[in-house]
Formats: sequence, structure tokens, C-alpha cells
Amino acid sequence: MRREGPTEVSVEPCPDGPILVRGADIVRGVDGREHEVTRPVVAVCACGMSGRAPWCDGTHKVLAAKGEG
Ligand code: FES
Repeated sequence: MRREGPTEVSVEPCPDGPILVRGADIVRGVDGREHEVTRPVVAVCACGMSGRAPWCDGTHKVLAAKGEG
């Protein structure tokens, strides 16, 4: 749901993990598709391997454990 008026959005990269986005209404994936944000904070995949892109699904932890992350 888009809010009326300006909102403050913050972006915080997690070391070897996702990007935490706070306050956003929409996240646009690398494919250009827009994804509605329904929670105050969402984790956006930064490793490119998530099965639920653009959201982090924890795959980065598996890659790190294998030494691939
Ligand atoms: S950063 Fe978590 S799956 Fe990509």
C-alpha cells in the first residue's frame, strides 16, 4: 500500500547478507518489476541467488557455509 506524501527510507547493507530496507512502499527488482512492501522492514537479496528474489530467503548463508559467498 502506497502512503501519501514523502516517506523516509533507509537502506542498510548487512555484511555478507541482505540489504535491510526500512520505510519503503515498493522495491523494484533487477528485472524492473515492482514488489509491494507490506512490512516496516524487508530484507532484499544482495547475493543474487535467492529463490524468492528480490527478497532474501537465506540462501546467502548456505553459500557462505560452502565458501561460495
Ligand atoms: S542475500 Fe540472502 S539470499 Fe541473497
